[in-house]
Amino acid sequence: MDMGNEKGAKIYSPLVLKIYDAWVLTFSNNYAWRCNTEHILLNHFRRNMAAKHLDIGVGTGYYIANTPENSNAVTLMDLNPNSLASAAKRIGPHRIHHVLQHDIFMPLPDSEKGQYDSVSLYYLLHCLRGTMDEKTRAIEHASQALKPDGILHGATILGKDVEHNGLGRYLMNVYNKKGIFCNTSDSYEALKVVLSRYFEHVTLQQHGVVALFTATNQVRGK
Ligand SMILES: C[S@@+](CC[C@H](N)C(=O)[O-])C[C@H]1O[C@@H](n2cnc3c(N)ncnc32)[C@H](O)[C@@H]1O
Repeated sequence: MDMGNEKGAKIYSPLVLKIYDAWVLTFSNNYAWRCNTEHILLNHFRRNMAAKHLDIGVGTGYYIANTPENSNAVTLMDLNPNSLASAAKRIGPHRIHHVLQHDIFMPLPDSEKGQYDSVSLYYLLHCLRGTMDEKTRAIEHASQALKPDGILHGATILGKDVEHNGLGRYLMNVYNKKGIFCNTSDSYEALKVVLSRYFEHVTLQQHGVVALFTATNQVRGK
């Protein structure tokens, strides 16, 4: 893994991935981030996953595994090979087009550009180092994977201009100190600005401290 970008990825050991769904998707999403996984995040994913899909920052593959009807041509991209193996196993080889170990801060291989109907970024942006402005590169690379009429969608935990509860503040503090998160300057407005650089039509909604987004109509020349 590339030094500097690996911090938000290297925590995902096989052991951490075993408890990820229980700790993050069930417990933390309900009690710290106040955004229910099944009713809010999975619904958002289901509404927006299209036929040829690229998931970036795959974790355990929960969303794709729970959206069996939308696509059987899925590409998995992640910096961490443990995440790729865990998600690939859960989703099943029959639905997977290919698996790519790649750092989203690095330009995409040409073979991935302009290929996808939908690209998802769930709980990736808050793991990436830098300010929201510095994460622009990740959004730029993700947008380049889309066909002209494709949709980018995702969700991220905000750290600025939001009201965290006690548990959320505690976890934010620990995770940001350890480099698991890097989101203390990530605000709803900053996310909107960054997405609007690459897309003409951006929707954002906030549930608890989580921003859910969609972005379509890529800005030409970007
Ligand atoms: C918090 S998990 C999200 C998992 C899943 N999308 C979800 O919402 O349940 C973040 C994932 O992003 C990956 N990741 C972190 N930094 C990355 C980078 N620079 N490039 C690609 N993937 C990265 C991690 O390895 C991990 O699998």
